[in-house]
Amino acid sequence: MALVSINELLKKQPLQQDVVVNGWVKTFRSNRFIALNDGSTIHNIQCVVDFEQFDESVLRQIATGAALKITGTLVESQGKGQAVEIQVSDIFVHGTADADNYPIQPKKHSMEFLREQAHLRIRTNTFAAVMRVRSALSFAIHQYFQKNGFYYMHAPIITGSDAEGAGEMFRVTTLDPKNPPLTEDGTINYREDFFGKETNLTVSGQLEAEAYAMALGKVYTFGPTFRAENSNTSRHLAEFWMIEPEMAFYNLDDNMDLAEDFIKNILRYVLENCEEDLKFLEKRLLDEEKTKPQTERSEMSLLEKLRFVVDNNFIRITYTEAIDILKNSKPNKKKKFKYPIEEWGADLQSEHERFLVEKHFKCPVILFDYPAKIKAFYMRLNEDGKTVRAMDILFPDIGEIVGGSQREERLEVLQEKIEALGIDEKELWWYLDLRKYGTAIHSGFGLGFERLVQFTTGMGNIRDVIPFPRTPQNAEF
Ligand code: 4AD
Ligand code: MG
Repeated sequence: MALVSINELLKKQPLQQDVVVNGWVKTFRSNRFIALNDGSTIHNIQCVVDFEQFDESVLRQIATGAALKITGTLVESQGKGQAVEIQVSDIFVHGTADADNYPIQPKKHSMEFLREQAHLRIRTNTFAAVMRVRSALSFAIHQYFQKNGFYYMHAPIITGSDAEGAGEMFRVTTLDPKNPPLTEDGTINYREDFFGKETNLTVSGQLEAEAYAMALGKVYTFGPTFRAENSNTSRHLAEFWMIEPEMAFYNLDDNMDLAEDFIKNILRYVLENCEEDLKFLEKRLLDEEKTKPQTERSEMSLLEKLRFVVDNNFIRITYTEAIDILKNSKPNKKKKFKYPIEEWGADLQSEHERFLVEKHFKCPVILFDYPAKIKAFYMRLNEDGKTVRAMDILFPDIGEIVGGSQREERLEVLQEKIEALGIDEKELWWYLDLRKYGTAIHSGFGLGFERLVQFTTGMGNIRDVIPFPRTPQNAEF
């Protein structure tokens, strides 16, 4: 008999036919009802066992977590809660689960506990739903770009350049840490290292994507990204996935239009294709919010929030306008911000971003034209000489979800910037070449994939939307 997934089975419902399913036991009630799940859907299939028909030694192995192959007839369910069930004729135990020690018992576990069991937490309904949505989002992202004339580009993971200039990189080396080769002045001699120079894990594929955009027109990267920032927050990972489209001949407005259309499109895809998982996650979030004080609960349910983003235009305002709003805001006047907004030029903290999005506009916001001083070296300088063509997209609950810009395409302006920042021009020789040979305006942005998954699934902590999270002091599994 052909293998079918529980999802297919529940959809087709071939009543009165013999079926075979494999899966893991969620619960086994009254020595009679097995709730079996194979990961293909949030729903279990109920398997009804006539215990007189089976040996005690087989029944004893059927505990939560055990892997079974079940053969039987699909019939209309006698009980409530499901439309169909399997009348079991044969049970094969792939592997039993030590019931006394299996960590994922059918009860509520804390997220902290489950993080310590990251290899098993995927067997909970919540994590399975989150990871199916994560997979669907990945597919939607590729589909969007492939349908819109973009080429998928694999940016290198090991690199010599610090694209963001923040110095938060993980070193890649094969030198002996106890006995590294030294130069005459006593510093480590990286010429003897594997690559003959200092190398790190990439913080962004942007610079390489720019090279490709200047030949293929429109490209995107979608890969792992590494940042050694010591931020123990619910929105930072040391290893995360980023989507970085880069487009020749796009100005900042084109870039913002693309980013907004892109986000709406992929959210629409999951609304249409992950309905059951999203409904489950919506209910989970509602239950979680019930434990919070009224003022901290969100006004919209998960699905309402997703539909709201899909159906409404994002607000677009300049950094300067945002500073005016923040300066005159209640929390600023009442000194409620941890970082009070005093003057133009201040870097925006997550509390400010969330005020703008959640309290002031109640809508996703695109902030653009930031002060040059607080942004990376590659962003295009505006006529005013002090702002750059940067844009950040701010989302409710998340804060910054996208960071992007129009790039500085003018060789002299870029060289001046690099010099002023004390970056060695030689290290960026190839990046400067792009401005020497057929330079043109171009733009791009980076979307933090886990922050998007967080928003889509309503999960409060970024560690719970990536299979095996890497954060300071934590790289188990
Ligand atoms: O704003 P960022 O640093 O922008 C760049 O890296 C540009 N090179 C992108 C580009 O223009 N091609 O990062 C982009 C996004 C952020 O908005 C955020 O969503 C996410 O990446 N991000 C992180 N996500 C999880 N953990 C971290 N430590 C993150 N740092 C950034
Ligand atoms: Mg940023």
